[in-house]
Amino acid sequence: MNDIDFEKLVFGMAHQIRNPCGVILSNASQILKNKKLDDETATSLQAIVNSIKYLDARLDEFVEFSKPMILNFKEVSISHLLQEVTAIVRDKSHLQRVRILLKEDKNLSHPKADHQQLLLAFLNIVLNAIEAMPSGGTVSIEAKKLDGNFTFTFKDSGIGMHPKDLAEIFSPFYTTKEGSIGIGLPITKRIIEQHRGNIDVSSLEKKGTTVTVKIPA
Ligand SMILES: Nc1ncnc2c1ncn2[C@@H]1O[C@H](COP(=O)(O)OP(=O)(O)O)[C@@H](O)[C@H]1O
Ligand SMILES: [Mg+2]
Repeated sequence: MNDIDFEKLVFGMAHQIRNPCGVILSNASQILKNKKLDDETATSLQAIVNSIKYLDARLDEFVEFSKPMILNFKEVSISHLLQEVTAIVRDKSHLQRVRILLKEDKNLSHPKADHQQLLLAFLNIVLNAIEAMPSGGTVSIEAKKLDGNFTFTFKDSGIGMHPKDLAEIFSPFYTTKEGSIGIGLPITKRIIEQHRGNIDVSSLEKKGTTVTVKIPA
């Protein structure tokens, strides 16, 4: 199957699933508005509404994942990009007592890259790092230029991974998290490869994980 057929298939399936979901959602929401419902019924209905919304969000992710990636290469400020990443995860990291340390070479030149896609790739990596530290810790992000490459390292002090799990992390839909669908790293890898770069992950159980991304300068 080529990419276009795959995209059509996913889009078609999503559409078929969304319609009945919409019917369930609107009916359940309507009944929920009835003030005379007993607590138990209201709780059950709310669970139905939440699950449908969850399903809808997952469908969006599938559709997004199946789309061909169109990149828009421009000069990107690494500094701005990394600050944007840390700003987006600020609340989540505070909540989990995770410290984010940013270290970048001064005067890093600006690589040609797709700002939005690279942001998404780095965000996926940092979110995983935070999620790997349920009782707090540190994520160190380092950016430097070395041997004709921009090198980014994301090091966390989290739960790490068993070598068996590490071997699977780039497989679509591989996840060890409840409520996740496991396409963060496959998407990240695709983005980095579209930038002619590569991504490497090393990890030690109970010690932490280091993700290294290289992009040609
Ligand atoms: N920094 C990390 N520390 C520990 N495990 C990780 C880390 N990053 C990724 N993983 C593992 O790789 C799996 C796949 O990651 P990902 O593709 O982002 O999907 P998701 O985060 O939705 O599970 C995760 O479920 C987790 O088991
Ligand atoms: Mg993830």
